[in-house]
Amino acid sequence: MAEQPDLSVHLGRGLCLRSPVMVASGTFGYGFDAPLVDRTALGAIVTKGTTPRAREGNAPTRIAETPSGMLNAIGLQNPGVDHVARIYAPMWAAWDVPVIVNVAGDAVDDYVGVARRLDGVAGVAGLELNISCPNIANGLQFGIDPRPAAQLTTAVRAVTRLPLLVKLTPNVTDIVAVGRAVEDAGADAVSAINTYVGMAIDVRRRRPVLSRGSGGLSGPAIKPLALHAVWQLSAALSIPVVGIGGIMTAADALEFLLAGAAAVQLGTVNYVRPQAAREVRDGIASYLDEHHLGDLGALPIRPARVEAHV
Ligand SMILES: Cc1cc2nc3c(=O)[nH]c(=O)nc-3n(C[C@H](O)[C@H](O)[C@H](O)COP(=O)(O)O)c2cc1C
Repeated sequence: MAEQPDLSVHLGRGLCLRSPVMVASGTFGYGFDAPLVDRTALGAIVTKGTTPRAREGNAPTRIAETPSGMLNAIGLQNPGVDHVARIYAPMWAAWDVPVIVNVAGDAVDDYVGVARRLDGVAGVAGLELNISCPNIANGLQFGIDPRPAAQLTTAVRAVTRLPLLVKLTPNVTDIVAVGRAVEDAGADAVSAINTYVGMAIDVRRRRPVLSRGSGGLSGPAIKPLALHAVWQLSAALSIPVVGIGGIMTAADALEFLLAGAAAVQLGTVNYVRPQAAREVRDGIASYLDEHHLGDLGALPIRPARVEAHV
């Protein structure tokens, strides 16, 4: 039998995934809600955005379907970091897949507090700083300006030894400037991208469909935009870029890997096909096999800045 292609990726600081296909924050809960999904087929699970205290999120309506995508304004509903550390993490510690906790907050101290609480907690493999949430008041304050983005990253870096991914917003003029700033501030990787701010209006009721008015647009509609952001970031940064945005199939994921992403996350597709991550992983493996490529490092169509993204 032919040798299986090597699908492993390193995202820095010892975070090693056996597959480049993760599930994205907010679309897979804390990993407990999809019992039929084979967790061992996932590169990693990224949790819902976690804040210092529990949040109920926004009032309904929080989700709306759009052509080729969806709008959401969940508002960071989560049980708070203490619950995550005490109840969820011990269960994750027994799982055969890394769990990365997505972190959110209203102020630097919120992020620092969550990071400090999770540092050294068994079952937590890394942190992803959500500096890009469009669905809460001030949710984008850190992500749209390189300086606050760097200050936040520096502050969190100082209190944790965990691998640190910083998730960027596309709702900016220059995403590369923010990416460079968080790289210089100590991020191990960037995740790109979070949702685009959008809205829908209920013509019959003459008011916005979402209770908050606006929401975050995700799904296939944003894929070309996300791909371009990843293309730009991969060329400019030395740390790995995790590609996110509208990935539905292995071919979509391969576009991101060819554009220079070290790994990808699947979001909206989890609502449509919960087993998508496995299909995408298998499709990437077949592609490598067909093209006689031994590992993912051979994929980027421009030479990667760091060899094999180690
Ligand atoms: C319902 C929903 C909830 C989300 N919640 C979060 C969140 O808590 N934190 C975060 O960083 N991103 C969150 N996202 C953004 C996704 O992780 C992802 O970046 C985005 O949806 C683009 O990927 P996709 O087009 O594959 O869905 C959420 C997305 C959706 C659809």
